Formats: sequence, C-alpha cells, structure tokens
Amino acid sequence: MARLKVGVLISGRGSNLQALLDAAADPAFPAEIVLVVSNVPNVAGLGRAKKAGVATATVNHRDYKSRVDFDNAVTKTLERSDVEFVCLAGFMRLVTQEFVEHWHNRMINIHPALLPLFPGLDTHQRALDEGCKLHGCTVHFVRHEMDSGPIIGQAAVPVLPEDTENSLASRVLTAEHKLYPECLKLIAEKNITITGNSLTFKQASQTTEEIICNP
Ligand code: GRF
Repeated sequence: MARLKVGVLISGRGSNLQALLDAAADPAFPAEIVLVVSNVPNVAGLGRAKKAGVATATVNHRDYKSRVDFDNAVTKTLERSDVEFVCLAGFMRLVTQEFVEHWHNRMINIHPALLPLFPGLDTHQRALDEGCKLHGCTVHFVRHEMDSGPIIGQAAVPVLPEDTENSLASRVLTAEHKLYPECLKLIAEKNITITGNSLTFKQASQTTEEIICNP
C-alpha cells in the first residue's frame, strides 16, 4: 500500500519532528515525511529534516500581509510537494478557519497537556499550579478553536512532588515522542473512522494501549 505523504509544520527545535522522522525511516511505517515547513528561518528542526534527507521550506509569516495570505502560501507549498496530510509539531502560529477547513480531517496537532485541560501556553506550570497528580500530552485532529478537536491518543505521566516546570516538561516530551508517531500510524494505516467529531478505532494496536496507559 502507498505510504501517506505527510508534511510537518514546525517553528523551532523539532524534537517531535525527529520522532516522526525516526518512525518514518522504517519503510514498513505507513507514512512518509515528504516536506518540513517552518515559519521561522534557520530553526533547529530544519536541520533535523535535512539530516534525514527530507525536503524543507521556510514560509516566513513576516513576509505576508495577512494570516490568510500566509496560510495560503503554506498550503501551496505543501501541495507542490503532494502532501496529503499535515502534522503540526510545535508550529507556533494560529491558523485561519480557511486553513483548518482546507485540511479538515487531514491535519493533526500534538499538545503538551491532557486536553481539554490546559489548552494554550504554559501547560506544565499550570498543571503544577493546579496541583495535578497526572499530566501528559494529546494528539488530536485540528478544529478551528485552539487546541480542540477529536482526540486520537493521550499519554499520561505522573507529576512528582519535586517537579519543576522543566522536569515535568521533559517527562511529558518523552511521552510525546512515543505518542505522536503511534497516532500518525493509526491514521495512515486507516485504523480510524471519523464521523463529525467522533472517532471510531477499528482495532487499537497493542502499542497504542501500552502508550496510552503506560507511557
Ligand atoms: C511540544 O511540547 C509540543 O507538544 C508543543 O510544542 C512543543 C514543540 O517541541 N506543541 P518540539 O519543537 O517538537 O521539540
């Protein structure tokens, strides 16, 4: 079966991108990363893509008059490379309704919290401030409202009494790197049916269950 052609949008360090690149390096993985697009020039993530032999593009939001113009340029760039599916991986731009609709059910995001808790920024500090005993990450289809949309997978990690924002972020990040490729795999192997905002999993893989319950 042909592998799903994926474009990854980044703005920075790209450690989740790296997890996707590493997974897709296995020819048996059902998706391939065909393009990495950054809205910020020269970020570390672009270097990771180049090292993996994956094409890159920079679409600098500062070069566009409006969000719509910028988003259209991103879509054109992705489509020139025949991208079928988009993964947001630390992409720090709010996208327009048009962009979300264009990529409807063809775009996913990873968020460093157990949604619907803590959408937005500073998720780790907020989890600490609230005294959460569990925290984690979520991979979800993108809908217009920020950090919302049908949830594909979540990984939970404990919050320890001695945690700082950094130690908690690093524990969550390790879980993110397992969860994101696994969720992309479920989609690429057509394991998920989407009806409106609800998802049905044809068969949850053993690995998914392990990640979700025991990151
Ligand atoms: C990750 O924590 C991700 O959940 C969030 O932004 C961060 C990106 O990190 N959306 P990286 O660029 O993938 O290292």
